[in-house]
Formats: sequence, C-alpha cells, structure tokens
Amino acid sequence: MSDPTLTVLESHKSEVRVYDPLDPVVKHEPYPFYAKLRRDDPVTWLPSMQAFAVARYDDVDMLLKNGKLYSSSMFWPALLGEFDPVPEVPPMISMDPPGHVHLRKLANKAFVPSKIKALVDRTYEVANELIDDIVEKHGPEGEFDFAVDFCALYPVTVIAQVLGVPTARRAEFKIWVDNVLAAANRAAYGPERLAEIQESSDKIRAFFEELYDERAACLQNDLISDFIQAEIDGEKMSRIEVIQMSILLLIGGVETTTNLLGTTLIELNRHPDVYARVRADQTLVPALIEEVLRYNPPVQIIFRHTMEDTILNGVTIPKGSTVMPLLASANRDESKFADPEAFDIDRKIEVPLMSFGQGPHFCLGNYLSRMEARSALETVFSRFELLEPISDEVDWLDSYFARGPHHLKVRYRVRS
Ligand code: HEM
Repeated sequence: MSDPTLTVLESHKSEVRVYDPLDPVVKHEPYPFYAKLRRDDPVTWLPSMQAFAVARYDDVDMLLKNGKLYSSSMFWPALLGEFDPVPEVPPMISMDPPGHVHLRKLANKAFVPSKIKALVDRTYEVANELIDDIVEKHGPEGEFDFAVDFCALYPVTVIAQVLGVPTARRAEFKIWVDNVLAAANRAAYGPERLAEIQESSDKIRAFFEELYDERAACLQNDLISDFIQAEIDGEKMSRIEVIQMSILLLIGGVETTTNLLGTTLIELNRHPDVYARVRADQTLVPALIEEVLRYNPPVQIIFRHTMEDTILNGVTIPKGSTVMPLLASANRDESKFADPEAFDIDRKIEVPLMSFGQGPHFCLGNYLSRMEARSALETVFSRFELLEPISDEVDWLDSYFARGPHHLKVRYRVRS
C-alpha cells in the first residue's frame, strides 16, 4: 500500500521534486516533504537556503543539545538579516555560553511556574474581554476572523502586561512582530515589502527605546523595570541589552501562541469527533494542546551554525555552515511516535516534543504558552456554543518558519 503522507508530494511530482522551504507548495503543506526527507535524505543541502536541513528526531535532538558544535550565534542574523531591530547586541536566543547562561538565568526568574500561575486569572479575563468585544462588534451570532480578532490579540495582551507595555497599542505590536518575522522570507520579497519590514523594525525599536527611558526615570512593577535593575555577576544590563531582551520576549510571546490557537481550531475542524469530545469534557484541553503542538507546531524550523567540520548521518557538514533542524519533522518521526501522521489526542507521548526546542535554548515561554492556550480554549468553548471555520481551505501564513493561519473566518453563536 502506498504511504498516504506522500500523496500530496506524488500529486506535485512533475513540478516539485525536492524539499525547498521557500516553495509555496511546501509552505502550504510541508509534512509530506518532511516524511520523504526522513525516509530518503535525513540530512540534505538546500540550495535556496544555503543550509543543511535535518529531518530525523534523534539528529535534531542531538544537535540542539550540542551547542558547542552547533552554535546559536547566527540564529538571529539567519532569521532577520539586516532587519534585526537591535543589531548592536545579539538577543539571548542567538547567544552561546557564557553570555547566554547569564541572561537566561535572569530571564528564567520571570517565567518559573509560580510566576506563571499568578497570571492565570488574568488570562481568563483577557480571553473574556476579547470575546465581549467580538460580541459587541458583531452581535450574538454571525461571522468574524478568529485569527485576527482573537488569536492575534490574546497573547500580545498577556505578554504586554508581563513586560509592562501599554496594551492600547497591542494591534500595532502584532503588525510590527509579523513584519519583522517576515524578514525570514526576505530573499523572496521586492523593495516595497522590504521597506514595510524595515519600517516595522524601526518602529518596534523606537517604541522600546522610549519605554526604557520612561521606566529608567520611574521604575514600575513590571519586567522591563526588573531587567533595568537586575545585576548579572555584579554587572547591570545595558540600555540596549534590555531593549533587545524586551523585543525578543515580545516576538517570542506573540506569534507563537497566536498560531497555536489558530491551528488548534483548524485541527478541531478537521477532526469533528475530537471537537465534540473536548467541548463535552474540558479536561481534555491540555491533551488537545499537546497534540496540536506535536502535529502542527507553530515553530517549524530553527537555525544553528557549525563551529567545526562534522559528519551527520553520513553527510559532511563543513565548519561555518547553516543547519536547519526541522522541529516539525522530528515531531512526526515514526521511530519515536506511533502512527505519527494521525492526529490523536489520546496518544501516549513518550519522548519530549521538539516544538519548544531542546537543550540550553529550550523555550523560556513554554509554561506560559501552554497555560495561555488552556485558558483561552476553555473560555472559547464555554462562551461559544458554535465556532467553526467557514471554509476547509486554510490561508496559512506565508512562512516556512512560523505555522499558523493568516486569516481564519469563522461562523459563531455565543451561549446565552
Ligand atoms: C506555542 C508557543 C511557543 C512555541 C512553539 C515556542 C517555540 C520556541 C522554540 C522552538 C525555541 C527554541 C529556539 C532555539 O533553540 O534556538 C524557543 C525559545 C524561546 N522562546 Fe519560545 N515558543 C513559544 C512561546 C513563547 C512565549 C510565550 C515566549 C515569551 C515569553 C517565548 C520566548 C522564548 C524565548 C525568550 C526563547 C529563547 C530562549 C533561549 O535562548 O534561552 N516563547 N521558543
């Protein structure tokens, strides 16, 4: 019997023979390509990216845990290029030890489970407020864009509050973050789109510069004020370091959780039996979130840089190469997950998911995003007795890095 996961690939055989993350067919449905890579080319050179893609779980896991050989130092330059809002200093995601360890220790304090628990009530309030706004605008039933009017505004409101950023401009932050992350596709864009990206990069920087100066003059009870006062080994963070850290947290905290929520509704629409079960029993929500994170994760790919010549799965990778661990492919590795192409909220997950990475840079926001997603989905299921995408066709973001819906028009009815 033929492998059903390869059907999409077969149907495009004449046009598309190889995995190219910039190819629109791949961006729309990368999973059959990942399956083929895992089977035939677990480590492969991608001419369009000038990078090596790594598709199997064990290889991805090993390289993420070996920061000495597979450095993070080129992550931000590879992702954002000349559009990094703060090119003077790297963000912690793009640092190796010892610099990374210092900053991570500092940031960890704000994201430990006890701090996240203290935010739970606020996340339910934010979700309820957004749904109140939707009902006020569109009435008790009708249509709205779930991706834009709910998913995009919810995490940005939560993280803005943690950082101490006024929420009045939250819709603008989302646009800035989207545009800055779009720099990942810069090779495919013309001057007009690049100018938009540059403008957002400048705006995000100017906004945080102003905020830093306000907080430095008058400290508050928020994360930016904590960073301004914090000392690492007797040294304070510089103004530019605090600004870079704040922007990283905004970028990290916004796009990812937004996309997780949007993709969850898409998967529920594709699996109506699961939708009915989680609506009837909300204790299944955490298992639903884990399966969406595995099956269709918000971050598909990250970047590393080799510090020495090396050989991975028989492929020689020269020193100074860009390496792209395909996290989303690792999550469907058949040697780690039974029936990996099936969406199954009852599955027993026996190895860590790759969705938040592994090793020293393991996502700082993993507790926060799981907690946020749970509060949001519980609130959505309680408040909407009907919430379903109008079309089965998905308008995925134009990105090989971030996975989530660009728009998601839904039909809804609130519970009276
Ligand atoms: C579903 C939601 C999320 C996903 C899928 C996700 C994914 C990831 C991944 C894959 C990494 C590893 C990067 C690497 O190894 O190079 C990472 C790191 C990071 N994430 Fe997240 N993330 C999510 C939510 C968040 C949130 C809510 C925050 C905000 C606080 C955040 C902040 C960060 C930071 C600061 C790092 C860098 C950590 C370090 O360099 O030590 N993430 N995330």
